Amino acid sequence: MAVKTGRADKAALVLIDYDRCTACGLCVQVCKGAPLYLEDGLVRIDPDRIFGCVGCGHCAAICPQECIKVEGRELTPNDLYPLPAMDSLATYQQLYKLLFSRRSIREFKEKEVEAEKIEQLIESVSTAPMGLPPSDVEILVIKGREKVRQLSWDIIDYFKRIKWMFSPATLLVMRPVLGKEYLESSRTFLAPAIDLFIAEKEQGKDYLLYDAPLALYFHVSPYADPLDPVIAATYAMITAETLGLGSCMIGTVAYGFRYSKELKKKYGIPLRNQQGIMLIMGYPAVKYQRGIKRSLAKVTYY
Ligand SMILES: Cc1cc2nc3c(=O)[nH]c(=O)nc-3n(C[C@H](O)[C@H](O)[C@H](O)COP(=O)(O)O)c2cc1C
Ligand code: SF4
Ligand code: SF4
Repeated sequence: MAVKTGRADKAALVLIDYDRCTACGLCVQVCKGAPLYLEDGLVRIDPDRIFGCVGCGHCAAICPQECIKVEGRELTPNDLYPLPAMDSLATYQQLYKLLFSRRSIREFKEKEVEAEKIEQLIESVSTAPMGLPPSDVEILVIKGREKVRQLSWDIIDYFKRIKWMFSPATLLVMRPVLGKEYLESSRTFLAPAIDLFIAEKEQGKDYLLYDAPLALYFHVSPYADPLDPVIAATYAMITAETLGLGSCMIGTVAYGFRYSKELKKKYGIPLRNQQGIMLIMGYPAVKYQRGIKRSLAKVTYY
């Protein structure tokens, strides 16, 4: 069997050099696609077993003999690389300091983000986990203040056209279908947010994307786990901190891309792709003096 995703409909091919294989079984232990199994002291490959080879590459990455190769589902043997030394990796303290120093940034300097930094961001995002390999995450890069502003105007104009959907009367009618919580958050957040975006645009101010010099929209095919773009965007957000960039997730944009075929077409987003998430970025024009201790809703040990 082959697991179907946006980019793959065949199982990957697994090749073992049995002259070098010591039958240690490590590849079998980590293979959750399950085409690998041990029989009579040998690693066997059955491409039709359970999910077939999903091309995760774990077997090749763990093999101490470098004698297992995977080819297909966008993976080649050349995609495997040596790992850096453990003592060169970021420690918990280093990562935590970076995380607790971060703030969402909505004020940006005029300076554009260099192409090299955008490449570094994309490289880092490509290391993120995904529901099923190969990743279906697509990134729409809107580079330059003018283009970001145009996107903002396009989305706000669309919101203006669908504003009636968030009127108190429509929301009341839709309550049995959409539920009490959707109604409440639409009434208290989405509806006033749309009014604000429209009013500010009339004054020439971009309250949706905050005149950012760079915006990345992460979205995925209908086959993918809907959380994949969120994870990718989170990787980009953390990476941005290491590059001296400030960033802010923008959830509201997704409503525009989700419902408007016109917007999807204009910005080259496949019509059937799922709702995604936007991350705006640039050099911060403000500097925070303190961190803010955050709390989660609940942590339950069971
Ligand atoms: C999924 C998601 C969607 C968000 N959408 C928006 C948005 O549309 N507009 C905005 O100004 N901030 C948005 N934010 C940023 C949050 O408001 C921000 O993270 C929060 O206020 C906490 O601030 P901090 O990131 O500095 O801790 C979003 C954040 C997340 C995680
Ligand atoms: S990890 Fe490598 S050496 Fe060990 S059984 Fe698998 S292919 Fe053979
Ligand atoms: S690539 Fe992944 S699914 Fe395929 S054989 Fe290796 S571990 Fe199993």
